[in-house]
Amino acid sequence: MNIARSLCVISGASSGIGKATALELAKRGARVVLVARREAELRQMAAQIRSAGGAAWAFPTDLSKPQEAVRLGEQVLGEQGTPDILIHSAGAGAWRFLDETPLEDLQHLMDTPYFAAAYLTRVFLPAMLKRDRGFILSVCSPASRLVWPGATGYVAARWALNGLTEALRADLYHSKVKVCAFFPGKISDSEYFIRNTDTENRIPRVGRFIPDITSRQAALGIVRAIELEARAMFVPWQLHIFDLLARVFPRIAEHLAWNTGARRKGP
Ligand SMILES: NC(=O)c1ccc[n+]([C@@H]2O[C@H](COP(=O)([O-])OP(=O)(O)OC[C@H]3O[C@@H](n4cnc5c(N)ncnc54)[C@H](OP(=O)(O)O)[C@@H]3O)[C@@H](O)[C@H]2O)c1
Repeated sequence: MNIARSLCVISGASSGIGKATALELAKRGARVVLVARREAELRQMAAQIRSAGGAAWAFPTDLSKPQEAVRLGEQVLGEQGTPDILIHSAGAGAWRFLDETPLEDLQHLMDTPYFAAAYLTRVFLPAMLKRDRGFILSVCSPASRLVWPGATGYVAARWALNGLTEALRADLYHSKVKVCAFFPGKISDSEYFIRNTDTENRIPRVGRFIPDITSRQAALGIVRAIELEARAMFVPWQLHIFDLLARVFPRIAEHLAWNTGARRKGP
C-alpha cells in the first residue's frame, strides 16, 4: 500500500513504537493523526512534523472511553477524511500474577490495547469499507502468541488484541481493507518498562536469545508491513523462529518459560 499522501491514524503516538511509527510515516509523506492522552507530547510532535514540511494533527484522546473514541472518529472523518491506514499502538499494563493484580486493574489491562483498538476500528471501519480500501495494523506482542508466568492480565489482553485482529481479517476477507498483526520483540528505548514497574524483570531469561530492537526498528518493520500489505510480521526474525518452535514443541516452550520466568513470591 502506498504511504505517500495517505491519511494515517496512529494510537499510542506520544511515545515508543507509536511515536516512532508516526515519524517514519510522516517522513514518507503520510498525513498523520496523532492519538494518545498526553496533549503536550502530541502537540510538540505535530509541530515538529509540520516544521519539516509534513502534515500532522494532535488529537488528545483517552481511548479507554468509548465516547472519546466516537468523538475522535467524528472529528477526524469531518476534518481530515477517511483514514487509509490505522495503527493500533496504544498499550499499557504491568505484569502480575492474576492473584497479585488489584481487581480494578483487571479492567484497565483490557482497556489498552484491546478496547482501544476495538473502539478505534469500530469508529472508522464503516467509512473505510464504503471506500473499500485501507490497512489496519495492530501492534501486538510476543505475549499475543507465546505465554509465560507472572503476566496473566497482560498476556490475556495481548491475546485479545491478536484475536480481534484475526477476527477482523476474517470479517474483511471480501474487501480491500487489509489487516495485519505486527509482533515486535523487546524495545530497548520505549517508556513501557519505566511506566509499568516491576515488569521488565519478569521477562523469562530464555528471551535473551531474541535481540532487543529500537522503537525505530519496530517502526521500519511497520512501514515494511504496510508496503507489502503483510498479514503478519515479526521483528526481529528470531522472534518468528521462537514462535514456530513454540507451536511445534509446546511442552518444551512451557518448560523453558517456567524454568526461566518469574516465580510467585508467596505460596
Ligand atoms: N516495549 C516493548 O518492549 C514492547 C514489546 C512488544 C510489544 N509491545 C507492545 O506495544 C505497545 C506499545 O508499547 P510501547 O513500547 O510503545 O509503550 P509506550 O512507550 O509506553 O507507549 C504506549 C502508548 O500508549 C498510549 N496510551 C496508553 N494508554 C492510553 C489510553 N488510555 N488512551 C490513549 N493512548 C494511551 C500512551 O500515551 P499516553 O500515556 O499519552 O496516553 C503511549 O503513547 C504495547 O501494547 C506493548 O505491550 C511493547
